[in-house]
Amino acid sequence: MSSASNSRITRRRLMGTALAAGSSALIFGVRVGFSQTTGPFSLPPLPYAEDALIPVISSTTIGFHYGKHHKAYVDNLNKAVEGTEWKDKSLGDIVKATFGDQRKTTIYNNAAQAWNHTFYWNSMRPSGGGEPAGIIADHVKDSFGDYTKFRQEFATAAVTQFGSGWVWLAQGPGKKLVILKTANADTPMVRGTTCLLTCDVWEHAYYLDYQNRRLDYVNAWLDKLVNWEFASQQIAA
Ligand SMILES: [Fe+2]
Repeated sequence: MSSASNSRITRRRLMGTALAAGSSALIFGVRVGFSQTTGPFSLPPLPYAEDALIPVISSTTIGFHYGKHHKAYVDNLNKAVEGTEWKDKSLGDIVKATFGDQRKTTIYNNAAQAWNHTFYWNSMRPSGGGEPAGIIADHVKDSFGDYTKFRQEFATAAVTQFGSGWVWLAQGPGKKLVILKTANADTPMVRGTTCLLTCDVWEHAYYLDYQNRRLDYVNAWLDKLVNWEFASQQIAA
């Protein structure tokens, strides 16, 4: 085995250990990128087993979503940046630098989807969801009035996102929390917004389990999976 292969495997194991220990902030570093600073990019390990989110999300869905879709974004990004200056940039820097550049659409779409999906996996945990506690609860109350209003606004954003996309809890100017929706690969982080949580509303995220019932998926996601600890780690002081 080459030293490069050894290096990649060691990095994967380190990232897996950090995530398993709940230290996801280490992976996201300064809230926009991974600990991996240059390409070629690796598929980060899931922070839990593929069957850990049952009954909300099946292991079949996770298997396809992570093992096929997320992996394809990483693989396609590596092909797109091979031999270019982009291979020496961090994933977060690539996303921000290629946003809006029609000549870099392939790199942007795959880099953003790679970033978004790792953020999504960390936005969930087994036995999560429900009302938050601690500092994030204070922010939710200050920004939305109460948790019920937040939950309703988030679910409405999810079902009204036309076509494929993402719903986000983010921290905007003035540190107020906001709910945003983005289409396709787009992500609020390119505009300097601090992302706290995201729910993937592409059909590949829920169709095997919920078919066309996106609202059922999002409500179950909110009630059973949200990783509020991860959101708290992302929040600006
Ligand atoms: Fe996805």
